[in-house]
Amino acid sequence: MKVLLIGSGGREHALAWKIAQSPLIDALYAAPGNPGIADHATLVSLDVEDHAAVIAFAKEKAIDFVVIGPEAPLVAGLADDLRAAGIATFGPSKAAAQLEGSKGFTKDLCARYDIPTGAYQRFKSAEPAKDYVRAQGAPIVIKADGLAAGKGVTVAMTEAEALAAIDDCFDGAFGAAGTEVVVEAFLDGEEASFFCLSDGKTALALATAQDHKRVGDGDTGPNTGGMGAYSPAPVMTPDMVERTMKEIIEPTISGMAKDGNPFSGVFFAGLMITAKGPELIEYNVRFGDPECQVLMMRLKSDLLPILYATATGTLDKVQAEWRDDAALTVVLASKGYPGAYDKYTPIAHIPEASEEAKVFHAGTALKDGKLVATGGRVLNVTAFGRNVTEAQARAYALADKVEWENGFCRRDIGWQAIAREKA
Ligand code: AMP
Ligand code: GLY
Repeated sequence: MKVLLIGSGGREHALAWKIAQSPLIDALYAAPGNPGIADHATLVSLDVEDHAAVIAFAKEKAIDFVVIGPEAPLVAGLADDLRAAGIATFGPSKAAAQLEGSKGFTKDLCARYDIPTGAYQRFKSAEPAKDYVRAQGAPIVIKADGLAAGKGVTVAMTEAEALAAIDDCFDGAFGAAGTEVVVEAFLDGEEASFFCLSDGKTALALATAQDHKRVGDGDTGPNTGGMGAYSPAPVMTPDMVERTMKEIIEPTISGMAKDGNPFSGVFFAGLMITAKGPELIEYNVRFGDPECQVLMMRLKSDLLPILYATATGTLDKVQAEWRDDAALTVVLASKGYPGAYDKYTPIAHIPEASEEAKVFHAGTALKDGKLVATGGRVLNVTAFGRNVTEAQARAYALADKVEWENGFCRRDIGWQAIAREKA
């Protein structure tokens, strides 16, 4: 099979690494890719926003299957255009990608199909939103409706903070994403991420993970795209997974189909495990980054036929097997991230992968033949262990061998799971 992978982050490096191991692969291309992905795929400098150019390339190389990594091309309808051109594609349609692209869309779906989530209202202007906040009181959550690179959510512990967040949205802090606002009840509990494939009819549960969104140790400082993750998430017991499938995923699949937007691709459900059970915080319609890195480390099965079955409506014919081990990834980021940071800082050395640990590239590039950091999140040092404690020790041992002066990482990835393991 000839495969084209779209994307250039750590998530796509993990996907490329795993797809390249498939006995079914004849050729793997990545657009635009990164220097880590180049170990497993031929890089192509395509403008992913130019759908006609992507289709022309796919036709020229007789690509059998396209795998779309990030959300932006999905929300822009790349999967629809590829499928219309007769090319099998992993990733939801533009209509189904609204599950990630519009928080209001997802909340309305939850309301229609009785999917557990925080009570909410949608607003197109500030005053009624503020009246609602005053009536509900704090804590309360304010969300820009659209894609805001993970920054459009304010968990307001006071009413004043909530009112200010509403003004920020309508004053354009998140651009077009903030022209509509969702105000949502605060959910109290432990967060977990749940990944599940769907071909529009059938669901295949993958695995669970926990992310670390804050930049600083002890979950302090501003939110980021994720500073590290581990899998599995101990809070997601078999019973909780079963409830999530029944109460959240299955009604979403049937509801989306009933509404004329059948969902094909991966559900990345952000959950809050509250006293009542699993409640939906949000859906993403692609693998998490860096959650994908730990999932791919743990997946024993060949990924390629699983993704292909998802795209071609035959998910009932495949299974996914997982290593029992824990996997943990530590994100090395450029100093200053998530604020401003220097670009093109040299990365002098990346240690070799071993059986139990590997460094995925996220924001790297080659400049004059030398490896440099170009992104905020730059490398993902990922390791296995019999438990999270062991995986963490291996990941930091490898991370400490990376020679990159402008890099930093959190030193406590996995702390919640490790506290449980010690208890
Ligand atoms: P999101 O971008 O929707 O994932 O939100 C970012 C973060 O805000 C989530 O990971 C949660 O930690 C928090 N959050 C979002 N919605 C709620 C809610 N209703 N109650 C409590 N925390 C929330
Ligand atoms: N790590 C969170 C995300 O991929 O959105």
